[in-house]
This record gives sequence, C-alpha cells and structure tokens, in this order.
Amino acid sequence: MKIIPELEKVIQIVLNKMEIGGGVNVSFEHPADSQHGDWSTNIALTLFKQQNKFSSPRALADSMSEEIKKSLPNFVSKVEVAGPGFINFYLSEHYLMSEMVVLLENRAQLKDQQNTGKKAIVEFSSPNIAKPFTIGHLRSSIIGWSLANLLEETGYEVFRDNHLGDWGTQFGKQIYALKHLGGGSLEKNIEKLSKSDNPVKDLVALYVEFHKVAEEKPEMEDEARAIFKKLEDGDDEMRQLWQKCIDWSFVEFNRIYDLLNISFTENNGRGYGESYFEDKMDVVVSELESKAKNTKGISYVTGNNGAKLVNFSEESKLPPLMILKSDGATLYATRDLATDKWRLSKYGSDILIINEVGAEQSLYFQQIYALEKALGWVKDGQRVHVGHGMYRFKEGKMSTRKGNVIWLEDVLNEAKSKAAGLASDKKVLSEEEIEKVAFGALKWSDLKRSARLDVAFDWDEIMTMQGNSGPYLQYTYVRCQSILNKAQNLDTTKYSDLLVNLKSYSRNTQRENLTPAEIDLLRNLSTYFEVVEKSAREYAPHHLATYLFGLAQTFNQFYGNTQVIGGAEEVEKFRLALVATTSLVLKRGLHLLGIEVVEKM
Ligand code: ARG
Repeated sequence: MKIIPELEKVIQIVLNKMEIGGGVNVSFEHPADSQHGDWSTNIALTLFKQQNKFSSPRALADSMSEEIKKSLPNFVSKVEVAGPGFINFYLSEHYLMSEMVVLLENRAQLKDQQNTGKKAIVEFSSPNIAKPFTIGHLRSSIIGWSLANLLEETGYEVFRDNHLGDWGTQFGKQIYALKHLGGGSLEKNIEKLSKSDNPVKDLVALYVEFHKVAEEKPEMEDEARAIFKKLEDGDDEMRQLWQKCIDWSFVEFNRIYDLLNISFTENNGRGYGESYFEDKMDVVVSELESKAKNTKGISYVTGNNGAKLVNFSEESKLPPLMILKSDGATLYATRDLATDKWRLSKYGSDILIINEVGAEQSLYFQQIYALEKALGWVKDGQRVHVGHGMYRFKEGKMSTRKGNVIWLEDVLNEAKSKAAGLASDKKVLSEEEIEKVAFGALKWSDLKRSARLDVAFDWDEIMTMQGNSGPYLQYTYVRCQSILNKAQNLDTTKYSDLLVNLKSYSRNTQRENLTPAEIDLLRNLSTYFEVVEKSAREYAPHHLATYLFGLAQTFNQFYGNTQVIGGAEEVEKFRLALVATTSLVLKRGLHLLGIEVVEKM
C-alpha cells in the first residue's frame, strides 16, 4: 500500500471538516528519531498563518489530531502532536506485518510495477578506444548499471548502451604511430599488438611516443590529419587499422565488463559508439541550418574563422556550442546530437535518455539538452545527465598524453588480493566469491554516496568488514543465511509456513508483544519499496545504499539481542520470517546495485 497518498487523504478530510486550507499541499517525512513515529507532517505549522481560529500552531495541530483520532485509519496505531506542532503518525503493527507479507511473497521484487509502457536508454561506461579504461569509466559503469537495474525494477523497459569514443582526429595520430613508430614496421606493430594481453597499453605507448616525437617534427600532425581524412573518406587500409584498434581495445574492455558482471543490450552488446553516427550528422547540420533561424532561444552562426556555432539566448547563460570546425570537421557534440536524433526515431520520441558521464561534462550536457529542447526534439526531464565526481588518488591526476596512468586492472587485482585477506581464517573463499567481495566493495564505495561527490580513494574504508562498506553488507547477509540454515524443517525456497504463521501472528499480536528490535526491523523493512522507487525516480542509487546500510545495522542490533531460534513456535517462526525477509531484501537490494551476495565469508 502507498502510505503517503492515504495519509494525505486523511489530512484533507480533516481540513475539510475544520474548513481550513482547502486543497493545500500536505507533505510527509520520516521523523529523524524513530521514537517520534513513522511519518510526520508540518501542515499545522504551514497553515497556522492562514487562519485565526487557533492561537498557536500547536493548538491547531492538537485540534487536527483529535479529528484524526475520531476516524483513525486501520494502518495507523497512534497519532501524536510533538514540538511546535508536528503531527506524528505511528503505523500499526498489523500494517507493518502486512508489508512484510508482501515482501516475502514477492521475494522483495517489485512485481506489480511491470509493463508500465515506459522506456529508457541508460548510456554508461563509454570508454575511449585505444585509451585506458579509467576510474571515471569504472564509476560510470557501476552507477549506470545500477540506474538501469533500478529503472527496470520500477517498470521501465531499459536499453543499456555504451557510447564508445571510437571516432575523432586522434585516430589519425594512432594510425600514424602504428605505421611509423614503436621502433618497427606496421607489420611488426600489428603482430605485437595481436599477441599482447594488454594491447591498450601498447596503443597508449604508441600514442605517447607520437606526441613526444611530434614535438620535434610538427609535420607529423599534418600527416595524422591527412590519415584521419582518409579514414573519414572510407579508405580501406585506414578502416582496417581503425577496426583493429577497436578490437584490441575490446580485449581489455570485455575483461573488465566480465569481471564486473556488466553488459550492454544494444548493437549486439557493443553499444553504439560515436562512429556509428558518422553518416547521421548531415541531417542534424541541415536541420540546424534550416530551423535555427527562427527557433526561439538559439541561433546558428558562422564564427569569424569559419566554424559553425550555436549561440544560446543571453538569459540561458550558456556559452556557444561548436558544431563544425572551420575545416568542416565534426565534433563530439555533433555526434551526440546525431545520436539523440537517431535514438528518438528508433526507440520512440518519448524515451527517457540518461547519460552517466563525469560531472566535469555538466556544462556540455546542459548545452546539448538546451539545444535539443529548443529544436523541439525532447520535453523537460526527458534528457538526464547523471554526473559522477572524481576519484582522487595520491598519485594525482591522470593524463594519457603523458603516460601518467593508473591502470584499472591493477586496481581490480589489488581489490581481489585485499578481499581474499578479509575472510576469517577457517573459510576459504573460491575465486568467484573473492571477486564478488572485491568488486562488491568497489561498487559499494561508488554507490554509497551521492554520485556527484568527489571521493578520496581509500582502501581502508573500502575493504573492511566494519562500517559502511560492501563487505559489511555481504557479511550481514551471510549472518541471515546462517540463522536460516540452522532452523530445522524450514522450507526457505517457498517460505510457505513462515507466511502462514506471519499472517496469523499479525492478527493476534499487539504492539506491546513486540520487542523494540522487532519493531525497528519491521519498520525498516516496510519502507524498502518506497526507497527503490525514490532511487529510480531521482536517478540516485545512493538512497538505496543508505537504506540497506541502515537495514543491516538494524538487523545486527536485532541479531545481538534477540534469540531467534528456540522460543515458542509462533514467535520463532515470526522471527525467522524477519530474518528471511531481511535476507531477501539485502540480496535483492544489493543486486539492484550490481552487487552479488556470497554464502560464506
Ligand atoms: N567517451 C567519453 C569520455 O570518455 C564519454 C562519452 C559520454 N557520452 C556521451 N553521449 N557524450 O569522456
């Protein structure tokens, strides 16, 4: 049941009766201190100024609460006025348990949300060919994957796309280097790269060499430009070498995606990279030429060096966006526009399009979205940039040109060796389990706080069993499972006897019969779906992570002071149901974040 609309109805009826504040918006929040109930509204404080019957907000709140009590809905057990006039609602134990029934019956999956008809493209990861897969791309992969899961869970049909940086003038340099540098010939370079288990490293070395040599021989830059021109014109040799760069890069990318358990649905799993839109940019350019003259908010102009730009209206405060360089060459932006135009025609004009890309590209995406909106392609809210902050390393900022690179695979390997060291002595984890813990820890570190924030990379914080970490969450799940495994004759695949017991227990139990730890756990569980929906709606997986951490803490408190197995049968089964539901919610919630649980630790 959706609590907020129900509570809102209650308040509206009361206000109607009291003839105050007709049609006003009522908002609810969880009180910071759970001792103050489950939901709270400040409506009496907001309405106080609009009336003259009551002498204080508190008096108004008291009178409202008396009215509410006259016809208390069955999902509320108590109403109370607190502080200057907050009205606090306590949900009934019967309601809390009925929510637990829903969770248990649905294995913590939001089943009833399916087939809403809504569609979304979640574009994430988007590394660049012949360049290292950076920590930024890792963050994008992790956050984007989770966003896609959350949208799917709340009823979207989701297309997972990878907007590879596989086009641009740098391929002129890359191919030049392949042909002339590396201390050998083209044949030798190709042979070496084809055998290498990290061809991107070799490609980067060639690229770095290009820039070094070109400092002495600037004419190389012209040759590189000529090569790119040939590539654009479809020259066979250049096309083949370019394709090789892509395939070599995918040796590394696929290894990383496999480790992270991440995949894409579009273009046979490779995603539509920038090059796919090479022949789809003309239509955009002509649309700009024809439309922008009489489109509100933008103008399409020729700069004094001959480049083509979009200018935005003054009040938008956006800088101009370059569409074509002075030599007519297209840019990153031109390809993004072509990508979106094509997407809207392929997937439907209403599709939600999310770009998970570093926050440093925020201004750029504002320009793109403003332009797309001005051209009438999209409506407000249809284009979303989920930007992530940077990971800061002690080693400082990375630069491909200078070869100052932190290799992601080194980070992943280090995560694995640290994860292996976490398990208690008696337990030997399999390779697969170690990976789940290692990458779960890295993913959690990205998802536990708002994506926008910069993070100082800290192994001690990431790889620990205590506190807000992936291993702590996985360990809590293991705890749940070990209790369930101890319970004899428990059919954990169906949970049917737990459900039967839960339903009768809920009919026969008063709040006084429940321990504070049980109530806390019940309350926590009852908000799970609400949190999943909020995380999806706000494109913010960290809400879910924060919730799961709170749930794990509440569970561990419950575990610390509750004897689950061994009491009266109906109590034992009720407590087992609490454990089983917690375990299901942890597993499903972590899965939505892209983190898998382990059975031992
Ligand atoms: N390849 C780009 C980079 O590494 C990210 C692409 C993001 N997506 C987009 N539609 N522009 O910075």
